Amino acid sequence: MTEVLLDWQDSERTETISVPAGETILDAAAATDIGLPFGCRTGACGTCTARLLSGDVVHHRPPRALKDRHLADGYVLLCIAEPTTDTHLAVGATVQSELVPNPWK
Ligand code: FES
Repeated sequence: MTEVLLDWQDSERTETISVPAGETILDAAAATDIGLPFGCRTGACGTCTARLLSGDVVHHRPPRALKDRHLADGYVLLCIAEPTTDTHLAVGATVQSELVPNPWK
């Protein structure tokens, strides 16, 4: 069991969740009634992207939505990510917009 601090970068909100071994952060959040955005749940769409501020996670399958440079910058996919240590993650719309520039701009 690890502790994960979710830190909404676009507001004052923070939440701490406990993640049992073998479980993803997305599932553990849902189990504690914290709804995080998701799409495919397979690491393909990037909807659930967060950024690691401290700690470590492993992805249960290849994080196809992230390029190598995103992984190097600490981005993780919460639908397939399991924390291996206590972890602090940036979440929220600003994390998404850092990753994917708005194509309409
Ligand atoms: S929900 Fe699609 S990558 Fe996580």
